[in-house]
Amino acid sequence: MPDDNVSSLTAKREAAVAAFADVPREPGAKKPDPILVADDVKRNFGGLLAVDVDHVEIQRGSITALIGPNGAGKTTFFNLLTGFDRPNSGSWSFNGRSLHGTPPFKVARAGMVRTFQLTKALSKLTVIENMRLGATRQRGESFWRAMLPFTWRSQEKDITERAEDLLARFKLDTKRDDFAGSLSGGQRKLLEMARALMVEPELVMLDEPMAGVNPALTQSLLEHVSNLREQGMTVLFVEHDMDMVRDIADWVVVMGQGKILSEGPPETVMSDPRVIDAYLGAHHDQSLAELEQEFESGALTAAAEAELSGDVAAAPSSEPQAPPSPTEDAPIDGGPADEKPAEETVAAERTGDTKDGR
Ligand SMILES: Nc1ncnc2c1ncn2[C@@H]1O[C@H](COP(=O)(O)OP(=O)(O)O)[C@@H](O)[C@H]1O
Ligand SMILES: [Mg+2]
Repeated sequence: MPDDNVSSLTAKREAAVAAFADVPREPGAKKPDPILVADDVKRNFGGLLAVDVDHVEIQRGSITALIGPNGAGKTTFFNLLTGFDRPNSGSWSFNGRSLHGTPPFKVARAGMVRTFQLTKALSKLTVIENMRLGATRQRGESFWRAMLPFTWRSQEKDITERAEDLLARFKLDTKRDDFAGSLSGGQRKLLEMARALMVEPELVMLDEPMAGVNPALTQSLLEHVSNLREQGMTVLFVEHDMDMVRDIADWVVVMGQGKILSEGPPETVMSDPRVIDAYLGAHHDQSLAELEQEFESGALTAAAEAELSGDVAAAPSSEPQAPPSPTEDAPIDGGPADEKPAEETVAAERTGDTKDGR
């Protein structure tokens, strides 16, 4: 047993958890060392206020889970923060620097990358080509220069070495020259995560990393996400899999109807009966009136009630399919925005997410 390794892993997690010790368990709570701070961020779609975040801070060096029912605005919030969509109002800063109005490749270059709910690997390129594009496209360099190594040789060599290291770390090195299209859904998620790391980010934002992943790969994905923190990165991830949230998150932020409804350590937030109701449709002994007194946030009730009465989770396949989002799905690597293997659609439906790409 490599003791050093185990104890250092524990130390990182302990440090991350300790950082939250004095943070109030309330929406918008101030953190001791935030890497990301957002204020008054609003995004309207027609009459719908999809994102309406007053204030939120993400603690550096931690793993924060962003949870909430389908349609809560989680993906839209990611899109806004990473420059894939524009807000109606609001501001946010990363490492103290305002990123409002900054395009995605510059956001990535600043050290903040995201992955997508539906993976964006280009299936007609090989695994290693996808990785190289992760470095070049996110850095905003020319596609053709990247594709013609003689114009770009030394950087190309560094990029390839880094890509190969990452592929080895994600156990995709044996797939190096395979087309990304031949990978399983889970391997594609790994590829997308590996590709995001090509820019050596400080903050990694993962939108449903476990969705559509074969159970055999979930443990390894969990470890990869934990490892990001071990390597000093900050992680913000959206996830429906509550076991994953419980296992690896240091802090949980709950979103509903565009707002931040609740924040706290996983055990506190996830034993909140209304959060449980919203997710599992579970009913508890306490009456709603009692719950009302226990929690201040009326919006959370509304979210839970909407979820329960709307039965989103109970009848996912009967919901009409929305057209693909023109915003999130702006292709990060210039590929077809509609590239979406059938298995991932099935997987997305299995998780109750019927809104294409969102
Ligand atoms: N491009 C868009 N056009 C119109 N409505 C959108 C668009 N993107 C998201 N929405 C709506 O905004 C709300 C939040 O969606 P989303 O951010 O995908 O939620 P989540 O990721 O939490 O499931 C939903 O009601 C969704 O239908
Ligand atoms: Mg989403």
